[in-house]
Amino acid sequence: MSATKARIALVVLSCFISAVTGVVLSRGSGESKAAGKGKVLIGLSMDTLKEERWQNDKDLFVQKIGELGAEVLVQAANSDDTRQIQDIQALISRKVDLLLIVPHNGAAMAKGVALAHEAGIPVIAYDRLITGEPVDLYISFDPVRVGEQQAQFLVDTFKGKGKKKIVRILGAKTDNNAVLMKTGQDRILAPFIKSGEFTIVHEDWAENWKPENAKKITQAAIARVGSFDAVLAANDGTAGGAIQALSEEGLAGKVVVTGQDAELSACQRVAAGTQAMTIYKPLKALASLAAETAVKMARGKPVVARGELDNGAGMVPSILMDVYTVTKANMDATVIKDGFHTREEVYRGLK
Ligand code: BGC
Repeated sequence: MSATKARIALVVLSCFISAVTGVVLSRGSGESKAAGKGKVLIGLSMDTLKEERWQNDKDLFVQKIGELGAEVLVQAANSDDTRQIQDIQALISRKVDLLLIVPHNGAAMAKGVALAHEAGIPVIAYDRLITGEPVDLYISFDPVRVGEQQAQFLVDTFKGKGKKKIVRILGAKTDNNAVLMKTGQDRILAPFIKSGEFTIVHEDWAENWKPENAKKITQAAIARVGSFDAVLAANDGTAGGAIQALSEEGLAGKVVVTGQDAELSACQRVAAGTQAMTIYKPLKALASLAAETAVKMARGKPVVARGELDNGAGMVPSILMDVYTVTKANMDATVIKDGFHTREEVYRGLK
């Protein structure tokens, strides 16, 4: 059976199993390294390594692949779609058994998935979903939960404190995660916006998730509306940009700012009080699970995914992990306890 036919058979099987039990099975082509014969070669195509989180993901993934006795080739595209397609082509020509993609642009990387599938290589979307082309598996933290927890934090913080004005900085429009995080935020905020307790006074997407774009959005908000109570920033990078703009106006620490990723600099800002919260994503668990799953699929073994997400080309078997809200109050019990950062690092420079 050709790899394409095997995949079609899998999709049909997946839909059937899903309808019966809610559990989806995903399976790689299994043709090259079946039953563990030969060394598995995994390809990892990343959007960027310029953010702390992705450097961590890469290091943890590469380490785990080594522990599993497999090999990995990594490419990073520097936020450039043309380059990411070239990276994928290069990995295909190196005959990887399975490809993981962290897309810069979820829609643009459909082409990369199609190219891999033409070569009989299964594809896992890592952290960010690829849209418009059938993907074999999606492994991520639940992006909708991230948005829900960020918005819930504002609801809890402002409970019983009157009407509040919110500036919202969304992530990169080209990243499906940013769209799903907005969906999660909207779900929680909707009743409060309807009742008039919350007003979104300014909102924009930060291109490429860049802190400097978030800074400009915050400056535009200050210029337009003067004062506001919160910046619902999509991640720590954008939170950092927003806080720079706020501190130039003497407002840092007076406006509630959210984040995501529990980057060291963000945890330090939470400890210092200029950022109110971040979201901890246990990267080691995600990278390890992705590595184990990739090697299993490359060996043609079945993999169980309990979730499914529609990517516009059908339902994608999905493994979605939990995320955790981090504040000053639970810093020790979360990121520090988990060894994500040390106590010394987080509280460096603080009395
Ligand atoms: C990830 C976030 C990250 C953002 C910017 C998103 O897709 O889920 O963890 O902060 O990209 O890189």
